[in-house]
Amino acid sequence: MKVFTLKSELRPFLQKARSQDRKIGFIPTMGAIHKGHLALVHASRKEAALTVASIFVNRPQFNNREDFLEYPKTLQEDLHLLKKEGCDVAYTPPEEDLYDHPLEKITDFKFGEFESRLEGKYRPGHFNGVALIVTKLFNIIQPDYAYFGQKDLQQFFLIKQLICDLSYNIQIRSIPTIRENDGLALSSRNLRIPKEDRPYANTFYTTLVAAREMLADGKSVPEVKTFVGDLFSDNSRLTLEYFEVVDTRNFSIVRKINNPSVTALCIAGYLNNIRLIDNVLYN
Ligand code: PAF
Repeated sequence: MKVFTLKSELRPFLQKARSQDRKIGFIPTMGAIHKGHLALVHASRKEAALTVASIFVNRPQFNNREDFLEYPKTLQEDLHLLKKEGCDVAYTPPEEDLYDHPLEKITDFKFGEFESRLEGKYRPGHFNGVALIVTKLFNIIQPDYAYFGQKDLQQFFLIKQLICDLSYNIQIRSIPTIRENDGLALSSRNLRIPKEDRPYANTFYTTLVAAREMLADGKSVPEVKTFVGDLFSDNSRLTLEYFEVVDTRNFSIVRKINNPSVTALCIAGYLNNIRLIDNVLYN
């Protein structure tokens, strides 16, 4: 696996691959590589001739400074895992390779209503930071395919929309969430869950599954929301930020399920001070 830290060296390398008509698959990550990321590498290897992963903890997408500072950084282990999975190229830039003045950027995206929903509401500025880094990386790497985990469903929707709105010639793929045996969705943040809290971490997933069953049994969305709210209030380790049923075509909030095949249930909250999110598709 080739490792690049500078875009000025990565660009000509990828240009050469492109001139040989090799299709490029891209997996953007913030590191702390786990089996969820490796599933994206695996998917890329199946359809692209060259698989590129980036590792970069993108400061502008963190609305909480502590969360940024404490984000796990495990570069050597990450490179080892990517290489073992057959990734061809890793791009691991220092901040200066992507931002001259990270906090003085003037490019701002406006996502309208979308920014007041779910992650947009609870993480002000987050999607702006994601959109900026993803468009930068797309411009540097110019992939044919880009792979994202279903766990960040709203992010996937946003990037799909950006690809369309900005006319990128990229096919985006959503890869199903990989879970621990008890249902906990794999996430780099799981590394920060203290041992004594770990048994409660799958509550987000088990709640989603129970909520989905209740909806399928004919309970209304407001009834299910009350059930979820009560369940979280009953456990002092857990804080619920949101539980919403959404239409995956436009990420609008659904109050009555009319179209099961494009419906998803999304949840976010805290297990003590660790923020976790998860979702399941209705069908
Ligand atoms: O999902 C992530 O890990 C990040 O939001 C991404 C897409 C790598 C952008 O920094």
